[in-house]
Amino acid sequence: TTIYLKDYAPFGYLVDEISLTFDLAPNATRVHSRIAFRPNPDATDRTFFLHGEQLSLISARIDDQPVEPEVTEKGLTCKVPDGPFTWETEVEIDPSGNTALEGLYMSNGMYCTQCEAEGFRKITYYPDRPDVMGVFSVRINGDLPVLLSNGNPVDSGEGFAEWHDPWPKPAYLFALVAGDLVAHSDRFTTVSGRDVALNLYVRPGDEGKCAFGMEALKKSMKWDEDVYGREYDLDVFNIVAVDDFNMGAMENKGLNIFNSSAVLASPETSTDANFERIEAIIAHEYFHNWTGNRITCRDWFQLCLKEGLTVFRDAQFTADMRSAAVKRIEDVIDLRARQFPEDNGPLAHPVRPESFQEINNFYTATVYEKGAEVIGILKRLVGDRAYAEALDLYFARHDGQACTIEDWLAVFEEVTGRDLSQFKRWYSDAGTPRVSVQEDWDGSTYTLTLSQQTPPTPGQPDKPPRVIPVAVGLLGPNGDELRPTEMLELTEARQSFRFDGLPSKPVPSILREFSAPVILDRDSPTSERAFLLAHDTDPFNRWEAGRSLARDTVLAMAVDGAAPNASYLDGIHAVLRDDTLDPAYRALMAGLPGQSELAGTLHERGITPDPMAIYQACEDLRQALAETCRDMLPRLHADTRVDAPYAPDAEQSGKRALAGTALALITRLDGGELAAEEYAAADNMTLQLTALAALLHAGKGETQLSQFHDQWRDDRLVMDKWFGLQVSMAKPDRAAQVAQALTQHADFNWKNPNRFRAVMGALATNHAGFHHASGAAYALLADWLIRLDPVNPQTTARMFTAFQTWRRYDADRQALIAAQLDRIAATPDLSPDSTEMIARIRGG
Ligand code: ARG
Ligand code: ZN
Repeated sequence: TTIYLKDYAPFGYLVDEISLTFDLAPNATRVHSRIAFRPNPDATDRTFFLHGEQLSLISARIDDQPVEPEVTEKGLTCKVPDGPFTWETEVEIDPSGNTALEGLYMSNGMYCTQCEAEGFRKITYYPDRPDVMGVFSVRINGDLPVLLSNGNPVDSGEGFAEWHDPWPKPAYLFALVAGDLVAHSDRFTTVSGRDVALNLYVRPGDEGKCAFGMEALKKSMKWDEDVYGREYDLDVFNIVAVDDFNMGAMENKGLNIFNSSAVLASPETSTDANFERIEAIIAHEYFHNWTGNRITCRDWFQLCLKEGLTVFRDAQFTADMRSAAVKRIEDVIDLRARQFPEDNGPLAHPVRPESFQEINNFYTATVYEKGAEVIGILKRLVGDRAYAEALDLYFARHDGQACTIEDWLAVFEEVTGRDLSQFKRWYSDAGTPRVSVQEDWDGSTYTLTLSQQTPPTPGQPDKPPRVIPVAVGLLGPNGDELRPTEMLELTEARQSFRFDGLPSKPVPSILREFSAPVILDRDSPTSERAFLLAHDTDPFNRWEAGRSLARDTVLAMAVDGAAPNASYLDGIHAVLRDDTLDPAYRALMAGLPGQSELAGTLHERGITPDPMAIYQACEDLRQALAETCRDMLPRLHADTRVDAPYAPDAEQSGKRALAGTALALITRLDGGELAAEEYAAADNMTLQLTALAALLHAGKGETQLSQFHDQWRDDRLVMDKWFGLQVSMAKPDRAAQVAQALTQHADFNWKNPNRFRAVMGALATNHAGFHHASGAAYALLADWLIRLDPVNPQTTARMFTAFQTWRRYDADRQALIAAQLDRIAATPDLSPDSTEMIARIRGG
């Protein structure tokens, strides 16, 4: 069944208070609920329907009198009094049999919950919708040492604990944890003097991996006070790490639950990239306390209201903690890798979708990452000061409410007096706009003519022009700035912008800072891009110039058998040896676009991509870069040595990234000699993994791989890396085979989402391996999706994105993929989650 935004209607009843009592038992947990309902004056429909799935109803009462509700697989209905009443039920559930990891489930003997989006209905009967907000009190009876729920602790003793959350909240923010856990504790005093107890709960043995996450939490709390004026509002803030989790983490009020991969870290077991990601996710979940919890969503169509804004806020935080330029480039790399394929394929949907079947399928790169880009556009259009004022108004006006995008836009319209109806198309219209550029120079006036066009997406044939902020700077012949960055507002399909009184024809630097998530179509001469690579004063666009040179040379190599472009090689050589540039930035400059992204670019240009040819061209270009840089690489590698004790900060990790780039290039020249030395000497996971990857690329590293296994066999998170790396590094004709062999490994616990994704996710992103002409990888992934679907539909459905680009490829590959999709679709009792994904991918 499809649900539509336009059908929204409020629930007929309001919840004042809800009390829950849990009697925990692995296979037969009893949940008693007592809920104070009263008629909702804003609603007309008085149908009393409560969601409930996979529950055994033991008893139901209204105002202490037994009632017999009508129960279906989806919930219950009951005749209720006209005025306020108390509703009580007792249900029995089976946490230990819950492999879907939604609702109340067990992971290694620990009870834990995941309720967003619609998991609470697997815990008890309730109006499980975000616009129903209630004050929760929870009592947990169980013989485990740690018993946690939302809010503040009220009482605890032998075998029980009671919690009270004073802030009304929707059911999706409910959480419960019970287990044999240990706490890493600290404190934080808020700006107004509230003393908050902070705890990070982990399994015994993981205590040594908590310190970094705790520091990240304190930094986040401080940052949200300083930058957004947002203070924490409870006496405790608890975080729990769990091994079996479908997503990264969850912002339950006062009790965040994290995938252990998104919080546990130590230098020996985590890479610099892991540390950066953990810091960002801790911040993200913490920031949800205001953008998500205090102000929540009216319905799930408004998901981007909390997610886009919170991703935007966590990106601002990372930019402040680390390097803003590096963070922006990393985010654009990620956007192009994950969101652009979605926006330009059969799964394209608006940032605010208007219909869905399974909401879990809409926790997407479009809702999250494009949703954050849209906030960035808005901030560029109104300016920093109006943005800050509008946010203050948003928090003041909507605290305690369940809101919509309309509410969000209204505060901006009020503060700025600006009509945002055209801007709103960013929320309603799917697809990535393409902006093309025409230049005109008459001796003193320079005119830029920008045109925009957005291709059709499923269900949306016509795309009217939208407002696109295009940041432009003009450079003179020596790289001097003739005009500093100016924000052009493209609002028409085609529009000209004049720059008068220029001494000479400028070189334009367009879409600085990636000021909007668009594809810039511009055929500029190689010399101009080489010039920008050397001189652009905007760090993003300087990187972008190198990126577009790389893209064009590698595609010319793949398609026409061209030789590597010398401007590219010389330009990168110059960047690598330029000690005035941040090492992290230099490492990013030296990277190539992903092979899937390159395939997408060819497809946009009307050429059917050949994955093997793209793979080979990338290999050849890397080899040519190694040759070009031969003489400077040893020095570069030596200069980026970190002698200080390991710290996961921006400075050290930038050096290690550049050292890693040097090592990978050197390995192409020395066959792995240096990499083997580095591996043997490595005392941190970043170096150990970089060296191992270099060895595997060189066709070596078998010994190190088994050493690595012996060293880390008891560390779940490191073993995920061991599984993933082998599949990522496998040569195209071996990838499916390597992945298949790993699924037979004793440690391949496929019901654990992290382990499943380590292997299958790596296979799907090994572009040439996944798209190998044999079709072996398609078949292997399909086999495993069929197997996982009845166990864990959410994690299964998410992996179908591997197939979303299938229409780009040749007829043989399309036929192979279609056959696998049809085979999966024909599986009896396939989950609604997977059914929806296949229908959309197949149909679009
Ligand atoms: N709200 C969580 C976050 O953004 C993600 C929860 C996703 N849950 C789901 N069922 N898809 O941090
Ligand atoms: Zn979020």
